[in-house]
Amino acid sequence: MKNNKSPFSAATFTLFNATLLILSSLSPTHALGSAATLAATSSAVCGVVASEPTRRIACYRHGEVVAVAPNVSFSAISGGRSYFCGLRSGNYSLLCWDTLSGFQSKRLYNNGTVLLEKLALGDSQVCATVVGAGTASCWRTNAAFESPSGSDRFDSISSGSGFSCGILKGSDRVRCWGVGSIARKMESEFGNMSLVSLVAGESHICGLNSSGYLVCRGSNDFGQIDVPEGGALEFSGLALGAEHTCAIRRSNGSVVCWGGRGLFEDDVTKTVSFEVIVSGSNFTCGLTTNNFSVICWGPGWANGSGYEIPLPPILPGPCVQSSCSECGIYPQSESLCSGYGNICKPKPCWPEMLVPAPPAVVPASPPGPAASRSKALTKGLLAFAIVGCVGGVAGICTAIYCLWTGVCFGKKKVHNSVQPTITRGGSVNGVGGSNNSISPPSRSSTIRRQGSRIMRRQRSGTSSTKHPERAEEFTLAELVAATNNFALENKIGAGSYGVVYKGKLLDGREVAIKRGDTSTKMKKFQEKETAFESELAFLSRLHHKHLVRLVGFCEEKDERLLVYEYMKNGALYDHLHDKNNVDKSSSVLNSWRMRIKVALDASRGIEYLHNYAVPSIIHRDIKSSNILIDATWTARVSDFGLSLMSPESNHDFRPMKAAGTVGYIDPEYYGLNVLTAKSDVYGLGVVLLELLTGKRAIFKNDENGGTPVSVVDFAVPLIMAGELAKILDPRVEPPEMNETEAVELVGYTAMHCVNLEGKDRPTMADIVANLERALALCDSSHGSISSGTISIVSD
Ligand SMILES: *[C@@H]1O[C@H](CO)[C@@H](O)[C@H](O)[C@H]1NC(C)=O
Ligand SMILES: *[C@@H]1O[C@H](CO)[C@@H](O)[C@H](O)[C@H]1NC(C)=O
Ligand SMILES: *[C@@H]1O[C@H](CO)[C@@H](O)[C@H](O)[C@H]1NC(C)=O
Ligand SMILES: *[C@@H]1O[C@H](CO)[C@@H](O)[C@H](O)[C@H]1NC(C)=O
Ligand SMILES: *[C@@H]1O[C@H](CO)[C@@H](O)[C@H](O)[C@H]1NC(C)=O
Ligand SMILES: *[C@@H]1O[C@H](CO)[C@@H](O)[C@H](O)[C@H]1NC(C)=O
Ligand SMILES: *[C@@H]1O[C@H](CO)[C@@H](O)[C@H](O)[C@H]1NC(C)=O
Ligand SMILES: *[C@@H]1O[C@H](CO)[C@@H](O)[C@H](O)[C@H]1NC(C)=O
Ligand SMILES: *[C@@H]1O[C@H](CO)[C@@H](O)[C@H](O)[C@H]1NC(C)=O
Repeated sequence: MKNNKSPFSAATFTLFNATLLILSSLSPTHALGSAATLAATSSAVCGVVASEPTRRIACYRHGEVVAVAPNVSFSAISGGRSYFCGLRSGNYSLLCWDTLSGFQSKRLYNNGTVLLEKLALGDSQVCATVVGAGTASCWRTNAAFESPSGSDRFDSISSGSGFSCGILKGSDRVRCWGVGSIARKMESEFGNMSLVSLVAGESHICGLNSSGYLVCRGSNDFGQIDVPEGGALEFSGLALGAEHTCAIRRSNGSVVCWGGRGLFEDDVTKTVSFEVIVSGSNFTCGLTTNNFSVICWGPGWANGSGYEIPLPPILPGPCVQSSCSECGIYPQSESLCSGYGNICKPKPCWPEMLVPAPPAVVPASPPGPAASRSKALTKGLLAFAIVGCVGGVAGICTAIYCLWTGVCFGKKKVHNSVQPTITRGGSVNGVGGSNNSISPPSRSSTIRRQGSRIMRRQRSGTSSTKHPERAEEFTLAELVAATNNFALENKIGAGSYGVVYKGKLLDGREVAIKRGDTSTKMKKFQEKETAFESELAFLSRLHHKHLVRLVGFCEEKDERLLVYEYMKNGALYDHLHDKNNVDKSSSVLNSWRMRIKVALDASRGIEYLHNYAVPSIIHRDIKSSNILIDATWTARVSDFGLSLMSPESNHDFRPMKAAGTVGYIDPEYYGLNVLTAKSDVYGLGVVLLELLTGKRAIFKNDENGGTPVSVVDFAVPLIMAGELAKILDPRVEPPEMNETEAVELVGYTAMHCVNLEGKDRPTMADIVANLERALALCDSSHGSISSGTISIVSD
């Protein structure tokens, strides 16, 4: 936010610029994110305490620090004239306290389905926006205060005396409500101006317009709207009182105040850098950049201006489970949030302001010769080389495959499937362990009940020596016949690479045939070619009961086809989300045991790709539509079209652009373009949340076209708050006995999988162990099967 010119390398900046390019192609949403964790009333200043596991509220009043009860976590607070309110973590409940008397809490709102987001207290009204819909609701309003129109949707809101205003989603115009005459006057002063942030004082409003200029409107009895000279991007955070305005200078974090009868001396604030400022009616308080302590000043601040208040360090912003894709993540965010989520840098942010976040993935050791070799991935159209090194030992490279080529094998040869060099034993760890490509279980060690983890892991199906199959080559005519000339009724889906048909080969085998789309634009051609080749190469080598096996391929004229085992029971996605499917065959999946088994099966498939395939493979597109279910209701991972070899130094691999599916894509991969095995862990975490909640990765919160919500943002706060039960898929009977614990364990595992930073996510081995444990719990709740037999049952 300030001029923290961080000592990041030029490389980091380049990387970040690449990120900006991606971000700038998204339509921006604008909202003022600051000041939600610090609040002032006429007599107290309160904040959400940083770096404690419980993000509780502490207040300072009349020389005393008050630990506000209840001692629970809050995501945001806001102050009115004589009281303040807090939104509990999970955003389902709103509590308010009277700061004039004894800080007694009163619950104003409690609804687990309609969550609240932005909170804005005025002199008496309490307003908040609804998550997803963006509509505003107000409480404690007097008779003259008119509620906002239910059809307006807001990016941000702020409240003054007798009015509240917000920035409308889409148009960025200002819309005000409240006491009719006041609200109309305020709104008309802004006309059709579009703002990106907005803060209300008692009877004036300031905001930044889209070029970054500070614009103030409303009452000017004390010069409070006379913005001092300054260019674009001069100011960031704002705090408005009854007669004054203060603003943080973007350049160095110092605060300048104007209006207020000239009583806001700036010697207090010009030498200190602030992160966030808030105002009571005649004083202002700020959170220092230096150590998150609070300093207040102004005529209404009884206890002398400019002294540090003995409050504990206060959070500079809400801790959220979000990718902070707009403005980046706050430095020290993780320790400030004590492991819960991240603090996003305040919005609005302009590209010029963006300072790169610390590299999220730090190479544990300098890339060795093997790493540099892996960068030299040949990008030939018809041939490519995969250079892998055994266990990260430099220089011993296992294989170079030449594919599709006339170059290596001559045309129309049957291609040998290459067996994994290492499939079991200690050397397995060489891939995931010794090269540090998968970080040691850091946060994963906090997954509950880790002590009871089953250490013995499944190795089933990992041996390829039993399957000396080759990838068969089919003629186009054979496949045309198998699919009845690619008849529409045989179409069963579409993947990253093309359309998928069900087919029956002459010998009676049922297969799924993927047909590359030959008619697409040339632009995409190369990408698809690569996907085709890579999928073939990987799959022909991979045999595992939780992976969908490649049977063969066809290459003729412009046609590229892949032939897979047919998965009778379709995609997990369809079972969970397809309306036509929901009530029928899906009932098999409508038990917690079955859902956990599906999760475990898929995890084993991914674990195999990460830890036992050599070289290891990052799937890159884990999602419920890529988890297929075979005739025996065993789940298998499919669609390696986007797979890339996991390079020897995972840290270094940056494909040209992030690929994946919206809702599942790892925010770290998306943001920093750094691909690690942990990107698959994120995708799997989303799938786990889908299994638990029955909701899509991105869903609309209300039926009448609310804005989309990600299942991560929806579920994680509630899991954090211990309220998983509230969001479980209602189509499944509530968990009984030990199932409750099992489902909880899956919930906690999912929550860790979608941690923002890859290093905080568990490894696939941890996940498999947890899911094994969860499945064992389910079985023990039926009383008959001991955990010793779990592996048999689950397989
Ligand atoms: C002012 O602050 C000091 C120390 O923080 C405290 O001892 C004193 O009681 C406060 N005075 C008032 C009037 O709040
Ligand atoms: C709040 O609760 C947490 C644990 O729930 C405890 O560690 C902390 O000491 C409590 N804080 C206060 C001020 O009571
Ligand atoms: C939550 O709000 C919705 C919409 O206003 C309402 O239908 C539902 O009954 C409320 N739930 C509770 C528990 O009050
Ligand atoms: C909960 O509220 C906080 C504070 O306003 C907000 O930053 C966060 O995005 C909200 N969470 C959800 C899931 O809406
Ligand atoms: C905004 O309003 C002014 C007059 O009030 C008009 O001249 C201008 O064209 C309007 N701009 C837009 C974008 O509507
Ligand atoms: C923002 O405000 C400044 C100063 O009032 C003005 O010059 C500029 O045109 C405004 N920009 C937009 C996009 O309205
Ligand atoms: C910040 O900048 C302002 C003017 O740009 C200057 O007056 C002030 O002394 C600076 N403060 C610090 C702490 O550098
Ligand atoms: C915060 O930093 C200031 C110096 O800027 C120092 O005087 C003060 O003691 C620090 N407060 C805490 C709580 O560390
Ligand atoms: C500041 O405002 C409070 C009420 O909001 C009032 O009681 C107090 O007298 C004011 N102080 C000054 C110096 O104006």
